[in-house]
This record gives sequence, C-alpha cells and structure tokens, in this order.
Amino acid sequence: MSLDIPWVEKYRPKSFDEIVSQSIAINRLREFLKTPNMPHMIFTGPAGTGKTSTALIIAKNFLETKDLDTNLLELNASDTVRIDFVRNVLKNFVNQNLIKNGSLKFVILDESDNIPGQVQQALRRIIEKASYNVKFILLCNYINRIIDPIISRCAVFRFVNLAKENIVERLKFIAEKEKLKIAPEISEEFFNLLFFISGGDLRKGINTLQMSVSLELLENLDLDEILKISGFLDKKTLNDLIQALKKKDFIEAREIVDTIESFDSRNFIRQLLEVLPQLKIEPEKIIEIRSYIGEIDYRISQGADENIQVSALLANILENIKS
Ligand SMILES: Nc1ncnc2c1ncn2[C@@H]1O[C@H](COP(=O)(O)OP(=O)(O)O)[C@@H](O)[C@H]1O
Ligand SMILES: [Mg+2]
Repeated sequence: MSLDIPWVEKYRPKSFDEIVSQSIAINRLREFLKTPNMPHMIFTGPAGTGKTSTALIIAKNFLETKDLDTNLLELNASDTVRIDFVRNVLKNFVNQNLIKNGSLKFVILDESDNIPGQVQQALRRIIEKASYNVKFILLCNYINRIIDPIISRCAVFRFVNLAKENIVERLKFIAEKEKLKIAPEISEEFFNLLFFISGGDLRKGINTLQMSVSLELLENLDLDEILKISGFLDKKTLNDLIQALKKKDFIEAREIVDTIESFDSRNFIRQLLEVLPQLKIEPEKIIEIRSYIGEIDYRISQGADENIQVSALLANILENIKS
C-alpha cells in the first residue's frame, strides 16, 4: 500500500478503455480523432466523471512523451483571471514555432466556465487566430456559462455522472491493487458509504477511500468518523435529528444541526433528502418538499446565507409532518 502519491493520480485512466461509463462520449471521440483537421473540443459534465483524464489521454495519444512539456499547456480558470496572462502565456504558446513539422499542440483549459466573460472574449480571438495544429480542449461543468462564439467553434462531448456500480467497482479495484484489508462484515456497508459520500464524483470517492486508509479509520471500522470527516452527519446525530423532526421540535432540530463540526449545507441537504421517506409526510407533500429542496440548493449555490436557508428548510419539513 502506498500513500505518498494521491490515488486519483495513480489510478487516473491511461487509455480510453479504462474510462468507465462514458461510452457515448468516448465512442464519438474515437471516430472524431480520426477526422482530418479536427475542431477544438469542449468536455462538459459534473466533477469527477473523467473529463481531465480523457483530455490527457488524447494529448498523450498525439504527442510523444518527450514533447509533452513543450506541446501541452494545461491551464486552470484561476490562471486566466488576469487577462494579461491569457494574452502573454497563451499567445506565446499558440504562436511558438513548432519543433517538428506537423506535430500538434494542445491547450487543456480546466474550469473554463469560471473564466470571466471578458477574458473569454480574448480567448475566443486567440482560438480563432490559432494555427490549425493547435487544438483547444475546454473542460467545464456548465456549458451555458461559455460564450456562444467559443461553443460554435468546438465539438461538444457530454460526460455523465457515474452509476453506482461503476463507482463501487472502480473503488474495489483500487482497494485490491492497494491490498487493503477490509473486514468482510463491513465491506458492503463501507463501499455503499463511499458511494454515498462521492455523490457520483469518482474523485471524491477515491479521495475518501485514501483518507480512510491514511487515518486508519478502516482498521477501526469507524464508518461514522468517515462520514463526519467528509462533512456529513454520523448515524447517531442523523437519528437524533429524525426524532426531533418527528416531534416537530424546531428548536431541538436546529440545535442538533448547530452541533455539527465542519457543517456542509449541501451535504446536509442530501442527507435530509435520504431520510424524508422515514418521516410521516403525505406523498404529494414529499414532492413539494423535494422541489423546495431544489430551490434551496440553488439559492445556496448562488450565495444565499446557508443558516437561513437550512432553517427555512427545516421549518418547511416540520410544517408538513403529520401529527
Ligand atoms: N469515467 C471514469 N473512468 C475511470 N476513472 C474515472 C472516471 N472519472 C473519474 N475517474 C477517476 O477520478 C479521478 C478524477 O477524474 P477526472 O478525469 O479528473 O475528472 P473530471 O475532470 O471530470 O473532474 C481520476 O483520477 C480517475 O481515477
Ligand atoms: Mg477535471
């Protein structure tokens, strides 16, 4: 077992065959890469679904290892916040003479949906002027935050959330490679827990697996601690909260929430969604609450005060519990 390298790097897929779940995007890509003078690309989809891995596989497929330093530029949105960076570094890279005739250059631009609109305009001009042997691969979670003139110059590939069995399978594969000793009596529960924490994000799943090992939580079978460290309520606290909700005791429910260390409102909301069926609520009210939860999640993502939103949600649930 090795803990010195992050497992997300160690187990990053090295070929298309290792990319799981994304058969639509990958099959299209296999064909696409054969087209002469292929356009630039956008990979869009949730975190931890294989976008960066796929982009790196493509670059390494076209470039020789010794040319990777000179012909591959990996940038993050935060690098591009300064417009002069885009102007200088990117322009230089794009315009540099090529070492070898005919060899391609790749620019992988991560989090490109976080690039401010004005900088995207500058980027667009660079993309337009770039020579045919420079290929841009833009990675993003939300393609609607990328300006149309860029989208229209790219082929778009959609990455989807990984299914539970794929996540669990990959985590078990890593556990086996690392020769982890997982007691058979908790194995099932442990991998279910990792999937729950991952929320479909394999990176999160792998990181939680590695963290559980490095903190020796696995040896002590301490699944509750894994939940807590990952920003979720442990089983007992969650159960206390369910009891308080059943009693329609808002103050107590709120107090329980306040005791949570490293509170993460979005994780909390996901856990609440899971326990809704345990509460006495009419099915049609459950639907209303779910849609309200969607609204709250959106508000929080837009910067609304977490405390107020969580209180509003607890109150909304309490109102709908049958006495
Ligand atoms: N579809 C996938 N198939 C195999 N491994 C994956 C996949 N998606 C993510 N991973 C794993 O999760 C880690 C993060 O993946 P990455 O490609 O960086 O995701 P993204 O760029 O979409 O956030 C990788 O190191 C890899 O081990
Ligand atoms: Mg990525």
